[in-house]
Amino acid sequence: MNEIFQPYRDRVDENLKRFLNLKEIPAPLREAMIYGVFNGGKRIRPLLVYMALDAFDGNIAHADATASAIEMIHAYSLIHDDLPAMDDDDLRRGNPTVHIKYDEATAILAGDALQARAIELIADDESISAETRIALIKLITHAIGPAGMVAGQSIDLAAENKTISESELVNMHRRKTGDLISASVMSGALIAGVDDEMTQCFSRFGYALGLAFQVRDDILDETGDTNVMGKAKGSDQSNNKATFTSSHGLDYATAQLDSLRQQAIDALSPLGSNAQPLIMLANFVATRDH
Ligand code: IPE
Ligand code: IPE
Ligand code: MG
Ligand code: MG
Ligand code: MG
Repeated sequence: MNEIFQPYRDRVDENLKRFLNLKEIPAPLREAMIYGVFNGGKRIRPLLVYMALDAFDGNIAHADATASAIEMIHAYSLIHDDLPAMDDDDLRRGNPTVHIKYDEATAILAGDALQARAIELIADDESISAETRIALIKLITHAIGPAGMVAGQSIDLAAENKTISESELVNMHRRKTGDLISASVMSGALIAGVDDEMTQCFSRFGYALGLAFQVRDDILDETGDTNVMGKAKGSDQSNNKATFTSSHGLDYATAQLDSLRQQAIDALSPLGSNAQPLIMLANFVATRDH
């Protein structure tokens, strides 16, 4: 996995450095933004943007701004997710969370700033047409907004200490995690300019993979190792979260995960051998230990 994906990860890191190098950012805010972005994330979402574009032999330079923007949005979502008012976690990627390392106000502002900077990056990307930029901004803001990721986070908090139905659980997971993962795949497809039929395939892939990602995350919260994950095992249990494992047990969650992994891979069959890197990524998501 690493051999194929490391060059893309390096590319993401180089771009993120460049895009966050704004002299106008005051010192404590800048440090917190950089700390929240450069602390060992797997970079799955930017990888998905690049791999989707690559599957159609697109020019990956055209995805640099969007891939970095999506990782900044993801970093913002984690900084806020860890806040005391949300999941109240102290450890992320093996390091103190941003509000522990700095303070709560700085963590809130670092998240706000990363989100705004992300959208600005896409708006400023002169390597793609104005029409493509607007389409990307629409796609991504919808996925992370009040009908997408933020909706999912709101449902997640409201579901603490409650039992929710399987369809509510799927809806929550799809929104809080799946929507940004799907938007990553769809952004790559959009930049590549794929036709409607392939857009449908990617949409099915993104949907299944996004849900698989959070089911695996729920399983890891119960079975993982804090040292390997770099975040506290049992966080969901201590917050009494509704998760796939708490609602349906480990066996059911594991079976669902495998079925979603297979659905994701099947959705890519029209791509033939060009789907290989995305299939590897799907297998990684479903089996990851961190
Ligand atoms: C963690 O995402 C949060 C969820 C959406 C489950 P990742 O597992 O992609 O986190 P990093 O970026 O690799 O740390
Ligand atoms: C996080 O889900 C989803 C978002 C950040 C939008 P979790 O709360 O399960 O993520 P972890 O386990 O803290 O990484
Ligand atoms: Mg959470
Ligand atoms: Mg959390
Ligand atoms: Mg989790």
